[in-house]
Amino acid sequence: MNRKVIRFGVIGCGLMGKEFASAVSRWCHLADMGAQPVITAVCDASPAALQWFTDHVPSVKYAYADYREMLSNPEIEAIYCAVPHNLHERIYIDIIESGKHLLGEKPFGIDIEANRAIMEAVKRNPHVLVRCSSEFPFFPGAYQLAEWVREERFGKIIQVEAGFWHSSDLDRNKPINWKRKIATNGEYGCMGDLGLHVLHLPLRFGWRPSNVRSLLNKVYDQRPDSQGRMTDCETWDNATLACEVNSGESGSFPMLLSMKRIAPGHANTWFLSIQGTDFSAEFSTKDPKRVASMPYTSGGAQAWHVADVPYKSAYDTITGGIFEFGFSDSIMQMWAAFCDEIAHGKTSQPLYCATPEEAADSHLVFTAALESNRTGRTVAPAWGD
Ligand SMILES: NC(=O)c1ccc[n+]([C@@H]2O[C@H](COP(=O)([O-])OP(=O)(O)OC[C@H]3O[C@@H](n4cnc5c(N)ncnc54)[C@H](O)[C@@H]3O)[C@@H](O)[C@H]2O)c1
Repeated sequence: MNRKVIRFGVIGCGLMGKEFASAVSRWCHLADMGAQPVITAVCDASPAALQWFTDHVPSVKYAYADYREMLSNPEIEAIYCAVPHNLHERIYIDIIESGKHLLGEKPFGIDIEANRAIMEAVKRNPHVLVRCSSEFPFFPGAYQLAEWVREERFGKIIQVEAGFWHSSDLDRNKPINWKRKIATNGEYGCMGDLGLHVLHLPLRFGWRPSNVRSLLNKVYDQRPDSQGRMTDCETWDNATLACEVNSGESGSFPMLLSMKRIAPGHANTWFLSIQGTDFSAEFSTKDPKRVASMPYTSGGAQAWHVADVPYKSAYDTITGGIFEFGFSDSIMQMWAAFCDEIAHGKTSQPLYCATPEEAADSHLVFTAALESNRTGRTVAPAWGD
């Protein structure tokens, strides 16, 4: 099979940059899909971060401290950018204007103004493929729920609940990092950090909140820095959003969204639960093989079916159906979708990566949530349509 080779540059060689390198290095895991990413160049402000790539990724030919040098390298066709949120606006705009395809990390701008500036660059460059990272919908269980939504199985929606919960910040001695500072993470706090993961599928399904009442809370005021000195934590730890969705055929229904950095006992729990009059379904990465569903007909039994989902991913792999799927598999599937779209103009299966428009919609929800928390009122996101 003829494979399109896509030469990538990585800007930001930290936690997520390395996850991309890992996915690329085991690309043979995917059944042949006609596209092959190659990491040709890397860029980071930290020499140690660059060193990890030059040590572990043999395809790296160029290592830069300044991303603008990477953008002027004609060998590079696409960029993965995973840098702190305060850098999204400048770097994403420069990438898009350079004509290179971009998979950028969420939240796609530190705040709504930064996001609007990025969206202007997206509109000016329609030939550039721009997508936003969000991997959890690629878990087989989440993929199955999305298929059921597409098949319109649920009847009238009764309620939707979606969330993404972490617990590592329960440890008050965990050193502070850039995600606890407004200057680098943004005023959204945990919403900027975790929120697009939660909103990606609801927005894809057309479930835009018409109004939001939010409760944002900070749990610890201070944490030690790397020298052990106590330093102020400025960002919201947890966010709970009660939303009303007006969806044509389903009428109005409540949608509860939660993003938590401090949820005792939850390591990296992403979940979606949809209740409908004809069908209900739930999936959580807490129990990644399990999908629960309940078909219902008038007078029938209300019996939940709980099944282990087979390893049935968006893109076929060499893995047998009885094996388990995990976080790094979801990252790889997301990358397969992005490369498929570059190579073929559209994905060969229904789930594509989060779009810049979906990221922009999430900013409207987070901005309304900030206002709601500030005023104690229910606030309508400024959809503008
Ligand atoms: N999709 C996910 O599941 C997921 C998970 C964690 C983080 N993220 C997102 O990824 C992005 C990065 O987060 P992370 O956890 O990888 O952070 P990180 O701190 O581990 O890595 C960020 C890297 O950017 C580098 N950097 C800083 N300034 C730079 C500059 N001017 N030029 C080049 N490199 C620079 C840093 O040196 C660091 O190596 C954020 O947008 C975050 O929200 C996504």
